[in-house]
Amino acid sequence: MEKKNIDWGNLGFGYIQTDYRFVSNFKDGKWDDGELSTDANIVLNECSCVLQYAQTVFEGLKAYTTEDGRTVVFRPDLNGERLEQSAARLKMPVYPKEKFLEAVQKVVKANEAFVPPYGSGASLYLRPYMFGSDPVIGVKPATEYQFRILTTPVGPYFKGGVKPLTVRICDYDRAAPHGTGNIKAGLNYAMSLFAIVDAHEKGFDENFYLDAATRTKIEETGGANIIFITKDGKLVTPKSDSILPSITRRSIVQVAREYLDMEAEEREIHVDELADFAECGLCGTAAVISPVGKIVDHGKEICLPAGMTDMGPVTKKLYDTLTGIQMGRIKGPEGWVVEVC
Ligand code: PLP
Ligand code: COI
Repeated sequence: MEKKNIDWGNLGFGYIQTDYRFVSNFKDGKWDDGELSTDANIVLNECSCVLQYAQTVFEGLKAYTTEDGRTVVFRPDLNGERLEQSAARLKMPVYPKEKFLEAVQKVVKANEAFVPPYGSGASLYLRPYMFGSDPVIGVKPATEYQFRILTTPVGPYFKGGVKPLTVRICDYDRAAPHGTGNIKAGLNYAMSLFAIVDAHEKGFDENFYLDAATRTKIEETGGANIIFITKDGKLVTPKSDSILPSITRRSIVQVAREYLDMEAEEREIHVDELADFAECGLCGTAAVISPVGKIVDHGKEICLPAGMTDMGPVTKKLYDTLTGIQMGRIKGPEGWVVEVC
């Protein structure tokens, strides 16, 4: 398979149009078989539910080229399950996990020339999404839907590679109300746009959102969960019902316990204990594990002892093991790495 002529090593996290996307329509109470399309544009009625009431959910996963030249995706079954949960919460028809997994296979195979080569530091990002497409004007769910998977080759989410990030404790809430923070819904992300632009304008890379009820506990950032390493080498990560159940985070916890013999704990994390941690990182499909060097809490700077100039040593071990599994250098647990071609 001849790869496209792209400068893989210098890709950022942006949209590059690829040759094919998967498209399936829901009408009269059922999904059609779906097909690959070369058309990247969508024509919608002006009153479609997605445009008026943001009835849309999405997922994110990556395809990689392994060391031995295979094309694989990482734990797509968990994306399929989470998409089902997100859709149910927004009163959308579920796109069945089995059909989801078939669509992932088809769209990656069709765009194999866009899957970055092994060692380039890049990957093919898959963005499955679904939206209510027919017109509604009263507040109610659509009756017709479209499910699509677009693909785009991407490099690191944060500019500067492993240069540690500076984040701030954020006074704005990220999630839409009514507890929808734990699903991947477009509205949640729209609600975070004001805060992320404000953070960037003030020189911060990201926001640490707090729990909306007490504003004392750390939740997550706009596009990633958070992990901390204690001074005695334990992994700690926030427990909350209003953060996205990150597949990367769940994988890191298992990697810590089963591959690195570390203790890993999911618990509430208070703002006033941040200064006690040795390392911190943002984790997600896009973020992978991006180290945090400094947390600013309303003018008070917390500089983490490891990670001001480079990734901390424990974070590095987690990063190397996780990416080693994803790229086929280390054997992963059963079912984590799924071959496409
Ligand atoms: N939290 C938010 C708000 C996200 O957008 C993402 C990215 O999908 C994550 C966490 C990380 O989740 P995952 O590891 O499943 O990509
Ligand atoms: C992902 O990591 O897949 C995400 O959805 C993060 C994102 C908002 C770019």
